[in-house]
Amino acid sequence: MTKNNLLHVAIDGPAGAGKSSVAREVARRLGILYLDTGAMYRAFAWKALEQAIDLADADALAGVVRETTLDFDVEHYRIFCDETDVTEAIRTPQVSAGASAVAVVPGVRTYLTELQRRKALENSIVLDGRDIGSCVLPNAPVKIFLTADLRERARRRQKDLREQGRDVDIERVMEDMEARDRQDAQRAAAPMVQAEDAVLIDTSYMAFDEVVERVLELVRGVRP
Ligand code: DC
Repeated sequence: MTKNNLLHVAIDGPAGAGKSSVAREVARRLGILYLDTGAMYRAFAWKALEQAIDLADADALAGVVRETTLDFDVEHYRIFCDETDVTEAIRTPQVSAGASAVAVVPGVRTYLTELQRRKALENSIVLDGRDIGSCVLPNAPVKIFLTADLRERARRRQKDLREQGRDVDIERVMEDMEARDRQDAQRAAAPMVQAEDAVLIDTSYMAFDEVVERVLELVRGVRP
């Protein structure tokens, strides 16, 4: 618990580990907020792609991000970028790669991190991302690093994409994920890393409900 009795749960890990669905369900069960920080990087990447900004132009990206408004409809899990509902538009493979590219830029990270901390300052909340336990909320009492085998993660992502009507080859999904994980883990600014005090959960052979229960168990440990 934080000083003002708020509960912060940090869930980090590589692409496709199931962070968002687990974080969302944990927040629902606890009756607290959920913030998908990856969706924030995605929404900004969507805008940069729409405006044809060169994703290698760090100065341009750092400038535009500060003029970007990101809003959430927390009840219906929708995200708005400058008032456009981008909930579905940010789930394409092109935006996934773009999000990882804009996430390298320190100015982009500083701004989005500020927004994330602001939300956590006033609310009990579950955040999922890459740097929540290591950078955004280093004092979070519950930190989890959620992972799974690359092939299993790719299989799950392929299933999600199929549900959206996109048929993609599993080998291609694996390649994209591996490239993105490498970029996310190797960047200089707040790379993806398991915080020293984070609990590792490998979900490769776990059912969804089991993972949620394990996280809730860790929460009960700090909030009896
Ligand atoms: O969780 P996701 O796949 O929606 O995230 C998209 C990209 O955003 C991911 O490849 C890296 C970046 N990201 C980040 O750098 N830091 C976060 N806290 C969340 C996401």
